[in-house]
Amino acid sequence: MGSQLRDRFSARTAIVTGAGSGIGAALARALAEADAIVHCVDIDAAAAARTAEAIGGTAHTCDVTDAIAVQALVDRVVAEHGRLDLLFNNAGISFLGETEDLTLAQWDAIIDVNIRGVVHGVAAAYPQMIRQGHGHIVNTASMGGLMAAGLLTSYVMTKHAVVGLSLALRTEAADRGVGVTVVCPAAVDTPILDKGQLGPVRGRDYFLRGQGIKRPVDPDQLAAKVLAAVAADKPYLVEPRQGRIAWRIGRLSPALANRLATRFVRQQRLDAQETLV
Ligand SMILES: NC(=O)c1ccc[n+]([C@@H]2O[C@H](COP(=O)([O-])OP(=O)(O)OC[C@H]3O[C@@H](n4cnc5c(N)ncnc54)[C@H](O)[C@@H]3O)[C@@H](O)[C@H]2O)c1
Repeated sequence: MGSQLRDRFSARTAIVTGAGSGIGAALARALAEADAIVHCVDIDAAAAARTAEAIGGTAHTCDVTDAIAVQALVDRVVAEHGRLDLLFNNAGISFLGETEDLTLAQWDAIIDVNIRGVVHGVAAAYPQMIRQGHGHIVNTASMGGLMAAGLLTSYVMTKHAVVGLSLALRTEAADRGVGVTVVCPAAVDTPILDKGQLGPVRGRDYFLRGQGIKRPVDPDQLAAKVLAAVAADKPYLVEPRQGRIAWRIGRLSPALANRLATRFVRQQRLDAQETLV
């Protein structure tokens, strides 16, 4: 951790949602290493407590789909510290498989966590940041928020929403002293890669092969890059390099990206069939 990062984050008050696991836990660790005051939030109380205990932070059990609970959490942190410097809207879920297998309850769940969860964080924290004249909101989207391949359709939809919200809000927030950064990783080595499977398509294979990545990104390395991106007030962080290349191809030729994604989905179905026999 460089001294510049420590200067930027030392004694800053941060809330991290989804801090009980994966990227959120890594963000909490990186912030603590930079001497920030870290509030670790998760729907899983034990997981939030584990992360907080390891870094000397404070654990909060909170479901980001509950707007009143998110507002109460932000109010508590502001009452304690007099301000909220950083909000990491990071909690998220995914469903992987054929869209016809997704129930309406699952559509609602992913919209509630991945979109409304971020909206609740913004609605609670942004007015406070405007009042104090500074702050930074960091939303964890995904490469799936920049590109679109099927079998992950509901997730891609929610992450496009998070990218749109983040980039639009950033332009509004700039003149109010508030920064916004959206984090768009491809596969990161966390438990989410093995969650939310609706059928035989396997998450780890899907996420790695979708971006042509050999190894998933290490969450701690990603977290360090996130803090550097926030310190530099970058609009985006897209990781790893293969992800940035795929994104560039997608921008140069959306039609080509769509053809490649269609071929990828076809191959994923064939591979899934093979694992069944
Ligand atoms: N791992 C990847 O490959 C990858 C890639 C791109 C984006 N992301 C995004 O990164 C974020 C973090 O994912 P991760 O990979 O660390 O997954 P993870 O499953 O390891 O962690 C997600 C955490 O969010 C918590 N959570 C889920 N629903 C919640 C709710 N309603 N309220 C509060 N907490 C809740 C979970 O309990 C869990 O601790 C997600 O938004 C995910 O979509 C992950």
